[in-house]
Amino acid sequence: MTHCASENLFPADGLGWKAPDPLTCTLESDRLIIRSYRLEDAQEVFDAINDSRDGHLLPWMPWCKDNHRTLESTTKYICEQSLALGNPATFNNVGTGIFCKDTGRFLGGSGVHDIRKDTASCETGYWIRRDAIGNGYAREACARTISWALGSQTKGGLGLRRVRIYTSDKNEASSKLIEKLDITAEVHQRDDYYIEGIGCTTRLGWGVLASEWDCEKHCALNPRESV
Ligand SMILES: CC(C)(COP(=O)(O)OP(=O)(O)OC[C@H]1O[C@@H](n2cnc3c(N)ncnc32)[C@H](O)[C@@H]1OP(=O)(O)O)[C@@H](O)C(=O)NCCC(=O)NCCS
Repeated sequence: MTHCASENLFPADGLGWKAPDPLTCTLESDRLIIRSYRLEDAQEVFDAINDSRDGHLLPWMPWCKDNHRTLESTTKYICEQSLALGNPATFNNVGTGIFCKDTGRFLGGSGVHDIRKDTASCETGYWIRRDAIGNGYAREACARTISWALGSQTKGGLGLRRVRIYTSDKNEASSKLIEKLDITAEVHQRDDYYIEGIGCTTRLGWGVLASEWDCEKHCALNPRESV
């Protein structure tokens, strides 16, 4: 996305990161369980997306414009995710569900995306169902997911070296959340992020290196720097 064309066309082996095998994801934080989806989640995930689609997930999450319009579509997504996790040699994307630890209620989604083996890096993203925002769940899930991505493979992490987060400058809730993570602002690309119904907006991006993140405490070690 923010890479130059030749990097995408001719990817280098680079650091040659390899996924843990087997690859599992069950993370715990103060109030949340963040884990890979199971078939029995399909109905609740479908309902949450349907209730949250208009005016909340859209326009920011374009995947839900056409997908997850039926229970079958959500079930298919969950099956594809399970298949991808079963093949760590090729996967580059893990979608995870965010669940309330006390009640088991499905609260939203997160995950690691666009894993780049050359730089041992990934992107992370998140959404919270409409009726659960404003409780700090997204921040908590995002911090825990970063710890999973950057944590050592011997301790159940992915062993990546860098996590990226992007948002549009028009997505104030998302920018606010990322700023609370205290990670480094790195990207400010004008007219680079098209949001349907809004148009070209500025892509904002933040990055955090494994050396800058306390995986046990799920917070940044270093003070944030600005672009
Ligand atoms: C972006 C999004 C995930 C943010 O969700 P959120 O619940 O507002 O974000 P947070 O988890 O940071 O919660 C923050 C709020 O919870 C409040 N809060 C309550 N209890 C809290 C607690 N224990 N800890 C932290 N914050 C708490 C905070 O005060 C804060 O409120 P404020 O924004 O008025 O200051 C949500 O708006 C969303 O799903 N948007 C649509 C999808 C999307 O845009 N995703 C990002 C694409 S790049």
